[in-house]
Amino acid sequence: MRIDVLTLFPEVFEPFLSASIIGRAVEGGSLSVRCVNFRDFAKDTHKSVDDRPFGGGPGMVLMCGPVFDALESVESDAETEPVRVILTPQGELLTQKILTELASKPWLVILCGHYEGFDERIRTGIEAREVSIGDYVLSGGEPAAIVLIDGVARLLPGVLGGEESVEEESFSRGYLEYPQYTRPRDFRGMTVPEVLLSGDHGRIRAWRTEQAKKRTLERRPDLLGDDR
Ligand code: ADE
Repeated sequence: MRIDVLTLFPEVFEPFLSASIIGRAVEGGSLSVRCVNFRDFAKDTHKSVDDRPFGGGPGMVLMCGPVFDALESVESDAETEPVRVILTPQGELLTQKILTELASKPWLVILCGHYEGFDERIRTGIEAREVSIGDYVLSGGEPAAIVLIDGVARLLPGVLGGEESVEEESFSRGYLEYPQYTRPRDFRGMTVPEVLLSGDHGRIRAWRTEQAKKRTLERRPDLLGDDR
């Protein structure tokens, strides 16, 4: 998968893209990420990318020019249409279902907003999916883009150890994760449930399913019965 990220802070992405599972996905060629700075498309000598809002009010607003120019530059060598994603608290709430949909696309272009917001014509003039990572306001779209890239990358074929890890986990099956344990069997008097040491795979599977359902009912009953 190819991902282009349009941002004012490309340096934010560097450590994330070289670490752990995402680092391996990039290294192994399953994922290729390029960060493009809007500021490189500023027109004036001050390299301005934002300005005061018409009508007054606090803060600065990201201007259309650098955003449209950066996007057109990124897409100029395109043979196919990318799926564009704008990160904004006004977007649809990110779910595992949306991540799965995005992970099936060959190319994403992700736009990170900053400052108090962006010129409305960026929203209306660019055909994009608007996505929020939660009902809270961040100072910019960059942490949200990292969340999105992480969630998508781990679904790409070959990125996680076994495809089962994704199938088995929380949310993919509509339930929260069942409890997991590793060595030692007894840690400070806290012991591992006997069933997990039994070697009886049928019983283990049944116990895990029961635990996952119980947890979901207790903690996130809202997840039961919808199609996320
Ligand atoms: N930018 C600022 N806050 C955000 C949020 N909650 N989700 C996505 N992008 C954002």
